[in-house]
Amino acid sequence: MSFLRRLYYDAFSSFYDPFVRFHSKDKQEGLRGFLVARVKVPEGGLVLDLCTGTGAVALAFAKARKDASLVVGLDFSRGMLRRAKPKALSLGLCNVALVQAAANALPFKPETFHAVTCSHAFYELNALEMASMLKEARRVLRPGGMLFVMEHETPKKPILRVLFAIRMLTVGLKGLHTLKDELPCFSASFEGVTKETSPSGDSKLIIATKQYKTHGGALG
Ligand SMILES: C[S@@+](CC[C@H](N)C(=O)[O-])C[C@H]1O[C@@H](n2cnc3c(N)ncnc32)[C@H](O)[C@@H]1O
Repeated sequence: MSFLRRLYYDAFSSFYDPFVRFHSKDKQEGLRGFLVARVKVPEGGLVLDLCTGTGAVALAFAKARKDASLVVGLDFSRGMLRRAKPKALSLGLCNVALVQAAANALPFKPETFHAVTCSHAFYELNALEMASMLKEARRVLRPGGMLFVMEHETPKKPILRVLFAIRMLTVGLKGLHTLKDELPCFSASFEGVTKETSPSGDSKLIIATKQYKTHGGALG
Protein backbone atom coordinates (compact mmCIF):
# COMPACT_ATOMS: atom_id res chain seq x y z
CA MET A 1 0.00 0.00 0.00
CA SER A 2 2.72 2.40 0.99
CA PHE A 3 4.56 1.39 -2.21
CA LEU A 4 1.50 2.34 -4.31
CA ARG A 5 1.11 5.63 -2.47
CA ARG A 6 4.76 6.43 -3.12
CA LEU A 7 4.23 5.70 -6.81
CA TYR A 8 1.24 8.04 -6.80
CA TYR A 9 3.30 10.86 -5.27
CA ASP A 10 6.23 10.14 -7.61
CA ALA A 11 3.86 10.60 -10.58
CA PHE A 12 2.20 13.65 -8.98
CA SER A 13 5.59 15.29 -8.39
CA SER A 14 5.81 16.34 -12.06
CA PHE A 15 2.67 18.46 -11.72
CA TYR A 16 2.79 19.34 -8.03
CA ASP A 17 4.27 22.86 -8.17
CA PRO A 18 2.20 24.03 -11.18
CA PHE A 19 -0.90 22.47 -9.54
CA VAL A 20 -0.34 24.35 -6.29
CA ARG A 21 0.34 27.61 -8.17
CA PHE A 22 -2.87 27.21 -10.19
CA HIS A 23 -4.98 26.04 -7.25
CA SER A 24 -3.96 28.68 -4.72
CA LYS A 25 -2.49 31.51 -6.80
CA ASP A 26 -0.13 33.49 -4.56
CA LYS A 27 -1.75 32.32 -1.29
CA GLN A 28 0.79 29.55 -0.71
CA GLU A 29 3.63 32.06 -0.41
CA GLY A 30 1.71 33.90 2.31
CA LEU A 31 0.82 30.65 4.07
CA ARG A 32 4.39 29.42 4.11
CA GLY A 33 5.52 32.82 5.35
CA PHE A 34 2.95 32.57 8.15
CA LEU A 35 4.23 29.11 9.14
CA VAL A 36 7.92 30.01 8.87
CA ALA A 37 7.40 33.13 11.00
CA ARG A 38 5.80 31.05 13.77
CA VAL A 39 8.73 28.60 14.01
CA LYS A 40 11.19 29.84 16.59
CA VAL A 41 14.53 28.07 16.80
CA PRO A 42 17.84 29.26 18.25
CA GLU A 43 20.75 30.27 16.02
CA GLY A 44 22.32 27.08 14.69
CA GLY A 45 19.09 25.19 15.35
CA LEU A 46 17.95 22.04 13.58
CA VAL A 47 14.57 21.91 11.85
CA LEU A 48 12.84 18.90 10.31
CA ASP A 49 10.15 19.41 7.65
CA LEU A 50 8.09 16.21 7.40
CA CYS A 51 6.43 15.27 4.09
CA THR A 52 8.37 18.13 2.51
CA GLY A 53 7.23 17.36 -1.04
CA THR A 54 9.05 19.67 -3.44
CA GLY A 55 10.52 21.46 -0.41
CA ALA A 56 8.33 24.57 -0.22
CA VAL A 57 8.44 24.98 3.56
CA ALA A 58 11.95 23.60 4.08
CA LEU A 59 13.35 26.00 1.46
CA ALA A 60 11.33 28.99 2.71
CA PHE A 61 12.63 28.34 6.23
CA ALA A 62 16.24 27.81 5.09
CA LYS A 63 16.06 31.05 3.09
CA ALA A 64 14.53 33.06 5.92
CA ARG A 65 16.87 31.63 8.55
CA LYS A 66 20.29 31.26 7.00
CA ASP A 67 21.60 31.11 10.58
CA ALA A 68 19.71 27.85 11.20
CA SER A 69 22.44 25.27 10.91
CA LEU A 70 20.34 22.76 9.01
CA VAL A 71 16.84 22.27 7.68
CA VAL A 72 16.09 18.65 6.81
CA GLY A 73 13.30 18.08 4.28
CA LEU A 74 12.00 14.53 4.55
CA ASP A 75 9.64 12.74 2.18
CA PHE A 76 9.09 9.13 1.12
CA SER A 77 8.71 10.12 -2.56
CA ARG A 78 11.94 10.21 -4.53
CA GLY A 79 10.08 12.07 -7.30
CA MET A 80 9.12 14.92 -4.96
CA LEU A 81 12.67 15.18 -3.55
CA ARG A 82 14.09 15.26 -7.09
CA ARG A 83 12.06 18.42 -7.69
CA ALA A 84 13.19 19.95 -4.38
CA LYS A 85 16.94 19.55 -5.00
CA PRO A 86 17.39 21.91 -8.01
CA LYS A 87 15.22 24.48 -6.24
CA ALA A 88 17.57 24.44 -3.23
CA LEU A 89 20.60 24.71 -5.54
CA SER A 90 19.14 27.58 -7.55
CA LEU A 91 18.48 29.48 -4.32
CA GLY A 92 22.10 28.88 -3.31
CA LEU A 93 21.04 27.31 -0.01
CA CYS A 94 23.74 25.32 1.78
CA ASN A 95 21.74 24.65 4.93
CA VAL A 96 19.21 22.18 3.47
CA ALA A 97 19.41 18.38 3.41
CA LEU A 98 16.85 16.16 1.71
CA VAL A 99 16.16 12.72 3.13
CA GLN A 100 14.01 9.96 1.66
CA ALA A 101 12.15 8.19 4.48
CA ALA A 102 8.68 7.60 5.89
CA ALA A 103 7.34 10.20 8.30
CA ASN A 104 6.28 7.47 10.73
CA ALA A 105 9.70 5.76 10.91
CA LEU A 106 12.23 8.58 11.18
CA PRO A 107 15.91 7.75 10.67
CA PHE A 108 17.10 10.16 13.39
CA LYS A 109 18.29 9.82 16.96
CA PRO A 110 15.95 10.93 19.77
CA GLU A 111 16.00 14.61 20.75
CA THR A 112 17.74 15.82 17.59
CA PHE A 113 15.58 18.71 16.35
CA HIS A 114 14.56 22.07 17.78
CA ALA A 115 11.39 22.17 15.67
CA VAL A 116 9.42 19.87 13.38
CA THR A 117 7.07 21.18 10.67
CA CYS A 118 4.57 19.45 8.41
CA SER A 119 2.57 21.39 5.84
CA HIS A 120 -0.59 20.15 4.12
CA ALA A 121 0.34 16.48 4.39
CA PHE A 122 -1.09 15.28 7.72
CA TYR A 123 -4.51 14.79 6.11
CA GLU A 124 -2.88 12.54 3.52
CA LEU A 125 -1.91 9.95 6.14
CA ASN A 126 -4.21 7.21 7.40
CA ALA A 127 -5.21 7.12 11.08
CA LEU A 128 -2.40 4.75 12.09
CA GLU A 129 0.21 6.81 10.26
CA MET A 130 -1.08 10.01 11.85
CA ALA A 131 -0.63 8.61 15.36
CA SER A 132 2.79 7.09 14.62
CA MET A 133 3.99 10.24 12.87
CA LEU A 134 3.12 12.27 15.97
CA LYS A 135 4.96 9.78 18.20
CA GLU A 136 8.00 9.94 15.94
CA ALA A 137 7.91 13.74 15.82
CA ARG A 138 7.90 13.76 19.62
CA ARG A 139 10.77 11.28 19.80
CA VAL A 140 13.09 13.32 17.56
CA LEU A 141 12.21 16.69 19.14
CA ARG A 142 14.40 18.08 21.91
CA PRO A 143 12.63 18.81 25.19
CA GLY A 144 10.97 22.20 24.77
CA GLY A 145 10.86 21.68 20.98
CA MET A 146 7.69 22.34 19.02
CA LEU A 147 5.73 20.65 16.26
CA PHE A 148 3.91 22.83 13.70
CA VAL A 149 1.31 21.13 11.52
CA MET A 150 -0.50 23.19 8.90
CA GLU A 151 -3.61 21.84 7.24
CA HIS A 152 -6.51 22.90 5.02
CA GLU A 153 -9.68 24.23 6.57
CA THR A 154 -12.82 22.92 4.86
CA PRO A 155 -12.93 24.92 1.60
CA LYS A 156 -15.75 27.42 1.02
CA LYS A 157 -16.21 26.90 -2.76
CA PRO A 158 -18.74 24.06 -3.38
CA ILE A 159 -16.60 22.25 -5.98
CA LEU A 160 -13.54 22.34 -3.70
CA ARG A 161 -15.72 21.18 -0.79
CA VAL A 162 -16.73 18.09 -2.78
CA LEU A 163 -13.12 17.32 -3.76
CA PHE A 164 -12.04 17.86 -0.14
CA ALA A 165 -14.75 15.48 1.14
CA ILE A 166 -13.71 12.80 -1.38
CA ARG A 167 -10.08 13.19 -0.32
CA MET A 168 -11.03 12.97 3.35
CA LEU A 169 -12.88 9.67 2.80
CA THR A 170 -9.56 8.02 2.00
CA VAL A 171 -8.29 8.48 5.56
CA GLY A 172 -10.78 5.87 6.85
CA LEU A 173 -13.37 6.18 9.61
CA LYS A 174 -10.90 6.53 12.46
CA GLY A 175 -9.00 9.14 10.47
CA LEU A 176 -12.22 11.07 9.81
CA HIS A 177 -12.84 11.15 13.54
CA THR A 178 -9.37 12.67 14.01
CA LEU A 179 -9.98 15.24 11.29
CA LYS A 180 -13.21 16.40 12.91
CA ASP A 181 -11.19 17.29 15.98
CA GLU A 182 -7.44 16.80 15.72
CA LEU A 183 -6.58 18.03 19.19
CA PRO A 184 -7.12 14.74 21.13
CA CYS A 185 -4.86 12.90 18.66
CA PHE A 186 -2.13 15.54 19.14
CA SER A 187 -2.65 15.65 22.90
CA ALA A 188 -1.99 11.90 23.11
CA SER A 189 1.66 12.61 22.22
CA PHE A 190 2.17 16.29 23.12
CA GLU A 191 1.45 18.91 25.72
CA GLY A 192 0.14 22.44 25.24
CA VAL A 193 -1.63 21.83 21.92
CA THR A 194 -3.16 24.92 20.31
CA LYS A 195 -4.87 25.62 17.00
CA GLU A 196 -5.08 28.87 15.07
CA THR A 197 -6.41 29.93 11.69
CA SER A 198 -4.14 31.36 8.99
CA PRO A 199 -4.68 35.02 8.00
CA SER A 200 -6.33 33.90 4.72
CA GLY A 201 -8.74 31.67 6.69
CA ASP A 202 -7.98 28.77 4.32
CA SER A 203 -5.64 26.82 6.59
CA LYS A 204 -5.14 26.03 10.23
CA LEU A 205 -1.95 25.72 12.20
CA ILE A 206 -1.72 23.23 15.05
CA ILE A 207 1.17 23.84 17.43
CA ALA A 208 2.23 21.20 19.96
CA THR A 209 5.03 21.34 22.52
CA LYS A 210 7.25 18.60 23.92
CA GLN A 211 7.59 19.80 27.46
CA TYR A 212 10.69 19.39 29.58
CA LYS A 213 10.54 16.43 31.97
CA THR A 214 8.99 17.24 35.32
CA HIS A 215 10.69 16.10 38.54
CA GLY A 216 8.18 13.28 38.73
CA GLY A 217 9.38 12.21 35.27
CA ALA A 218 5.82 12.00 33.95
CA LEU A 219 6.62 13.78 30.69
CA GLY A 220 9.39 13.39 28.18
C1 LIG B 1 0.33 17.50 -0.50
S1 LIG B 1 2.04 17.13 -0.44
C2 LIG B 1 2.61 18.42 0.64
C3 LIG B 1 4.03 18.81 0.32
C4 LIG B 1 4.60 20.00 1.08
N1 LIG B 1 4.63 19.79 2.51
C5 LIG B 1 3.92 21.32 0.75
O1 LIG B 1 3.42 21.98 1.64
O2 LIG B 1 3.90 21.68 -0.45
C6 LIG B 1 2.12 15.69 0.59
C7 LIG B 1 3.52 15.08 0.66
O3 LIG B 1 3.52 14.12 1.70
C8 LIG B 1 4.36 13.04 1.30
N2 LIG B 1 3.98 11.87 2.11
C9 LIG B 1 2.76 11.29 2.20
N3 LIG B 1 2.79 10.27 3.08
C10 LIG B 1 4.06 10.21 3.56
C11 LIG B 1 4.71 9.37 4.50
N4 LIG B 1 4.06 8.39 5.14
N5 LIG B 1 6.01 9.58 4.76
C12 LIG B 1 6.70 10.59 4.14
N6 LIG B 1 6.14 11.41 3.22
C13 LIG B 1 4.82 11.23 2.94
C14 LIG B 1 4.09 12.90 -0.18
O4 LIG B 1 5.11 12.22 -0.87
C15 LIG B 1 3.96 14.36 -0.61
O5 LIG B 1 5.19 14.87 -1.04
